[in-house]
Amino acid sequence: MSSRQANPDDRPVLQVGATGHLGGLILRELQSRGKKVRALVRPGSDASRLPNAVEVVRGDLLDPASLRGATAGVSAIVTSAIGYSQRREGDSLQTDREGNRNLVDAAKRAQVPRFVLLSILACDQAPDVPHFWAKKETEDYLAQQGVPFVSLRPGAFLYAPEGGFGQMIRQGLEQGQVFGMTPEGIRITYIAPSEVARAIALAVDEPRALGQKIDLGSDRPLSGPEYAALIGKLLARPMRVAQMQGGRGSRDDDMVAMFRFFQTGKYVADTRRQAELFGPVPKVEDAARQMLAGLGLL
Ligand SMILES: NC(=O)c1ccc[n+]([C@@H]2O[C@H](COP(=O)([O-])OP(=O)(O)OC[C@H]3O[C@@H](n4cnc5c(N)ncnc54)[C@H](OP(=O)(O)O)[C@@H]3O)[C@@H](O)[C@H]2O)c1
Repeated sequence: MSSRQANPDDRPVLQVGATGHLGGLILRELQSRGKKVRALVRPGSDASRLPNAVEVVRGDLLDPASLRGATAGVSAIVTSAIGYSQRREGDSLQTDREGNRNLVDAAKRAQVPRFVLLSILACDQAPDVPHFWAKKETEDYLAQQGVPFVSLRPGAFLYAPEGGFGQMIRQGLEQGQVFGMTPEGIRITYIAPSEVARAIALAVDEPRALGQKIDLGSDRPLSGPEYAALIGKLLARPMRVAQMQGGRGSRDDDMVAMFRFFQTGKYVADTRRQAELFGPVPKVEDAARQMLAGLGLL
């Protein structure tokens, strides 16, 4: 065996969740920075939309054995994977809890130099919101296991998801209503997914980020009525706020708990560290414009 060490820059970054909505944006950001990407894709999931240059390794966060080969020889791990969004029947928070722990264990075994976790803003203050708390537990586990990590904690994404939710947002806007999440006087942080993806890609190399939990947001938080006014201004038509409603079932209970948490006013990013490490914090107008453009409304 050669005694020469491989140049760390030549080693791939293992990306988990590359087939997801945000995952696709992260992948593009990594590649635009010259990173080789190895994507962990679940057996049976469609990897055909990933660029040819991506090395696809089949595996599953819930299958620890599959993570051994995937984590070997990588310079960093980046994960945005979640079971919470239930892309497959049977997906659950087990992925966000046990799956993430499996990935941390594999990172430790392979001595991966950096684990970049996509977490959630204020997750450590929200024990009653299961999918927030799962991120907090993963952050704790990374620290306990001594795995070098960066945790990025973004606020609510302003985005135009494919499928039913995206359609619901577009129909609402066409009828002059936005889905507000807080009443007058209570603000939350919104952010463009593109900005989240950019920060994640920078966090792979930024030496000052190591060991930190970093809030990500826009220039200012907004209340529901302020958000409606902003969208109304961009679309040049009045908008009223429709309060988001939860439904039934465990995922909906989780959503209801999240909306309740938003009412505490704690879902607000302190963006000072973001600005220091990743550059000027974008205006929330930019995030809203991107969402409206994605919905074909601008
Ligand atoms: N939406 C918000 O406002 C908000 C705010 C803060 C943070 N976040 C965070 O942002 C991220 C959203 O990412 P996204 O938009 O890419 O999510 P997404 O579209 O729901 O995609 C989820 C990804 O996870 C993968 N995955 C699911 N279970 C897996 C498993 N057991 N093993 C390996 N991979 C698995 C999926 O792969 P398949 O193709 O196999 O399904 C897919 O690539 C999440 O981490 C979320 O917590 C969101």
